[in-house]
Amino acid sequence: MSLQYNHEFSGPAMMNQKDLTVLKNWFADYCGHFSTHVEEDQRNFAVKKDHTYNVCLNAVRIGRSLQLNKQDMLIAEAIALCHDVGRFPQYLHYKTFDDDISANHAVLGAKVLLEQDVIGGLPEGEQNLIIRAVTLHNVFTLPDTLDHRTRLFVHIVRDADKLDILRVFIEYYDQEEECRATAVALGLPDTPGYSPTVLACLLQGRMALKSELKTLNDFKLLQLTWLYDLNFTSSLQMVQERRYVDKMAAALPENIAIREAIERARRYVAGKLNTP
Ligand SMILES: [Fe+2]
Repeated sequence: MSLQYNHEFSGPAMMNQKDLTVLKNWFADYCGHFSTHVEEDQRNFAVKKDHTYNVCLNAVRIGRSLQLNKQDMLIAEAIALCHDVGRFPQYLHYKTFDDDISANHAVLGAKVLLEQDVIGGLPEGEQNLIIRAVTLHNVFTLPDTLDHRTRLFVHIVRDADKLDILRVFIEYYDQEEECRATAVALGLPDTPGYSPTVLACLLQGRMALKSELKTLNDFKLLQLTWLYDLNFTSSLQMVQERRYVDKMAAALPENIAIREAIERARRYVAGKLNTP
């Protein structure tokens, strides 16, 4: 498959609204190229397309809360739009969203953007920022050496992404099995158990490692540990408004240890927002 980007960017000085529109059109086209009659594959592609648009909305909301200028708002949205382009070739080639058994989808995404010259018409500084943020959007720990501006945009896309992954999973657990986008659960077994090590992370308020996952319940617990990695008040506001903790708790087994960990997560969000 070959998609070439048409250079309608207005450059040279700064990215503008028209540049973002061109990028949005490219993304819609790009998704269209992966469209298939195989229902399961189509659902998996669709979940990533919808996810991308929701990450854009989350990023815009975070950007507004930070009172970013118009220019930086465009960059934040462009990064959100590009952050998961690697998911499409990843699924096409490996039929999975599990990076550990396929390829790092963030690196793959940066490669797509460069190979297809998607952002080549933007000013160089913005191209670098977008590529860097896409590449870093899924790393466990950010490098200490990151400059302030890059760190800001990386934080925005990471929060926007995590927030929407919570939505994707809550909807996934809610759906009938035959309607689910199968690759979302990374092939983890939907068995009643969970790993004490993942639960311990949630209790201790630190992010769990993906390598510790054994069951789908572990994945739910891990997603709740992401709350401790959110960077902005507006992100925590979205968690509270959308009742993500309660909804995720409803999909977990009922026992004292889990209840305690959930309660800790709820108190953490409320404490950060100064709400009861
Ligand atoms: Fe991603």
